[in-house]
Amino acid sequence: MKNVLKKLLRQNKYIEALAYILQNNQILNSSGTGEFGNSIEEMYQHNINIAQLYAKNYDGILDNKIVLEIGTGFTRTTMLYMIKEYNLKKAYCYDRFNCLHENDDKIIQKYGLEPYLEKLEYISGVNEELLKIENSSIDYIVSNAVLEHVDNLDLLFNVLGQLIKQDGVIYHKVDLRCHNRFKKYGELYFHTFSDTFWNMMGGKIGQPNRKLLKDYIALYEQHNFNQEVNIVESFNNHELERAQKYLKNKNINEYKTASVEFKLCKK
Ligand SMILES: C[S@@+](CC[C@H](N)C(=O)[O-])C[C@H]1O[C@@H](n2cnc3c(N)ncnc32)[C@H](O)[C@@H]1O
Repeated sequence: MKNVLKKLLRQNKYIEALAYILQNNQILNSSGTGEFGNSIEEMYQHNINIAQLYAKNYDGILDNKIVLEIGTGFTRTTMLYMIKEYNLKKAYCYDRFNCLHENDDKIIQKYGLEPYLEKLEYISGVNEELLKIENSSIDYIVSNAVLEHVDNLDLLFNVLGQLIKQDGVIYHKVDLRCHNRFKKYGELYFHTFSDTFWNMMGGKIGQPNRKLLKDYIALYEQHNFNQEVNIVESFNNHELERAQKYLKNKNINEYKTASVEFKLCKK
């Protein structure tokens, strides 16, 4: 039913824009449940995949390390699984908005993750809440599909820069696609709106911040990180040719990255 409604709202861009404005003002709620799995089993598998992605991208042994996950989302499973599989010393789950799903407890129970809860701390609230963690105490900071929703990346990186150890590693996977917003008109059509109008449609609810690859590179440079950039996916030529028409004077090359991984360490 929800999906049929979403499809209908997306038939016309003015109706779609109005729906986002209503959603942003809490008059209509269509939060993204289902995006990361509809059942307990699917959600669990999604989170195992992320845990394995994080483990693969850590150069070293995770045993006895302290890990901080940014933008935990619906469930603490990713970090609990990492505590279990890689024998972490401690894991923090942080989210700007507490959106733990009712399935969180069910997954923990079903897959026997309760014993690992004692090594996990959940933090939610403004980014500064993270400063209750000891300075320079984190070995590995991770996130998946989060940075593209962060409204103030500068603030977040000020905090992360204080928490990461001098020899610590930061891994972020970032999705620069439109997250279905105005997708019917093109994958990059969401870049055509003014910042003011875009904020009206989702400034309060963590919609995509529309930052480009070059913005992330400049951000890390500004915060004194060495960076390794791995482009996971680019938009195809057909999509870019289409976008060139509606993005008129913009340099289309700056828009071509769809998904990217960053590995950072302190300079
Ligand atoms: C698309 S979800 C990703 C959830 C999870 N990482 C996953 O891959 O399943 C994005 C998450 O980022 C969180 N978020 C948005 N802005 C944030 C911020 N400034 N700091 C931390 N988390 C934020 C949202 O609340 C949401 O839980």
